[in-house]
Amino acid sequence: MTKPDVIRIAQAIFTVSDLAASREFYVDLLGMNILHEEGNALYLRGVEDREWTLKLEQSRGPEDPVRVRQLGYRVRGEQSLDALIALAAQQNLPWRWEEELDRPRMLRLQDPFGIPLSFYHEVGTHPWMLQEFHRHRGPGLQRVDHVNVMVPDVKATMDWYLNELDFRLSEYTVDEHDAYWAAWIQRRGGVHDLALTNGPGPRLHHWAYWMPDVNSIIRTCDILAGARQPERIERGPGRHGISNAFFLYIRDPDGHRIELYTSDYITVDPDFKPIRWMRDDPRRQTLWGAKTPLSWFEEASVMEAFGGGLQAHEAGALTGIPVHVI
Ligand SMILES: [Fe+2]
Repeated sequence: MTKPDVIRIAQAIFTVSDLAASREFYVDLLGMNILHEEGNALYLRGVEDREWTLKLEQSRGPEDPVRVRQLGYRVRGEQSLDALIALAAQQNLPWRWEEELDRPRMLRLQDPFGIPLSFYHEVGTHPWMLQEFHRHRGPGLQRVDHVNVMVPDVKATMDWYLNELDFRLSEYTVDEHDAYWAAWIQRRGGVHDLALTNGPGPRLHHWAYWMPDVNSIIRTCDILAGARQPERIERGPGRHGISNAFFLYIRDPDGHRIELYTSDYITVDPDFKPIRWMRDDPRRQTLWGAKTPLSWFEEASVMEAFGGGLQAHEAGALTGIPVHVI
């Protein structure tokens, strides 16, 4: 069977409880750019993004808890969408066609682990703002970088993405029994498009943007402090051992976690060897940086089930503080 050719992680859709509060956070403070606006939704992008990369939708109220509606990948060619439909048929995965702004044919599919995915090839693009420096606001979020999902069985989930979608492994964490606690897997030649980390799931641990430099990450902290919202800073700044990235984790008004990330490395060489970390190695998660708060280990965003409502999430066999997550 022909495999789909996934290019990269490309988009996410979150629901939020107060779109005005989310707009203040993402647009006024972080400086994300509005590509399109409707009464109940904002389509946002970084300065390098040529298409929207984060859509925020107003939830319907207390009976409609905020959630991650989908995580989306761009694929190469219509044949990749055909291959995904064939895979869904073979594995009995639910799928349907949807339409979104600038994406006339978006394939919605739920993976075997309950993660709501979307895939698209055809997309309307827009001039980037990378060199429109006079229009950059806030810290200048540059482009979508990766997504991190908590799952109860990292090894099984990783194997599906490696075998069926041809992802490649960059780094991974195991315990003394060789059980997988986390895996960083990629399609585009960076460290990861998708990180899988052990924990009750599927839930979104974080959605990450590439930053132009370390200073822009520090500036984010200053901006949040100036706005009297330093509590939005959950962890960092610091440097990860895994990925080598300089990082900051912040929480939006609904608790959706955003990572601002820069300076990792490439994995394009055919003889690249995945890097193995032991779970008890303190350098893998934080090469340097302040102690990680418990919230960061435990809290994550729930996901939408394919038929609507919330996806159930459960813990797996490996329990304990998942001190591997980055
Ligand atoms: Fe991350």
